[in-house]
Amino acid sequence: MKVVVLRWGHRYRDKRLTSHVALTARAFGASGFILADVIDEKVKATVDKVKEQWGGFFKFEMGVPWRQVVKEWRAKNGLVVHLTAYGENIQTSDILKRIKATGKDLLVIVGSRKVPTEFFSKTVSDYNVAVGNQPHSECSSLAVFLDRLFEGQELSKEFEAAKIKIIPQIRGKKVARA
Ligand SMILES: C[S@@+](CC[C@H](N)C(=O)[O-])C[C@H]1O[C@@H](n2cnc3c(N)ncnc32)[C@H](O)[C@@H]1O
Repeated sequence: MKVVVLRWGHRYRDKRLTSHVALTARAFGASGFILADVIDEKVKATVDKVKEQWGGFFKFEMGVPWRQVVKEWRAKNGLVVHLTAYGENIQTSDILKRIKATGKDLLVIVGSRKVPTEFFSKTVSDYNVAVGNQPHSECSSLAVFLDRLFEGQELSKEFEAAKIKIIPQIRGKKVARA
């Protein structure tokens, strides 16, 4: 199951948060990230640098209108998951089971400020998923959703062609450099 994350509502004054969403997507097993509607070269530079050093395949795109992304994704028979505090609770409903059963590729939408109401509609999202029904953050909701989707397997993934790799230690910092 391929997962791509779409970030809606980037704010230039808060670019670190978008970078963190992209890095969360990469570290938690998504294969791509799309910064919808806007171009921010600083976010791209941050993600490129991490990719270059820490390896793995991860496609970064920006500036594409969100409607176009959703339309093209759906045309390829992919599903759209909108993460929102107002959706079906990932813990108390069978939403994750239903998503996994489809076996389809997922476009996961995370917002920032108040998202367009349209995001909740059938024309945009196949599923509205809540990581608990309390408001928190795009990073935390994405991390928990992906971790549950991949059942933790993404945390032991090897990133190909990495120049730097952490050797886990009880204490201190150890890295291997290629
Ligand atoms: C800081 S929240 C802002 C939410 C905004 N106030 C609203 O009413 O839509 C930014 C994003 O984090 C995600 N998010 C926050 N809490 C969530 C939750 N409990 N479950 C799923 N996603 C959540 C959503 O993608 C949301 O668009």
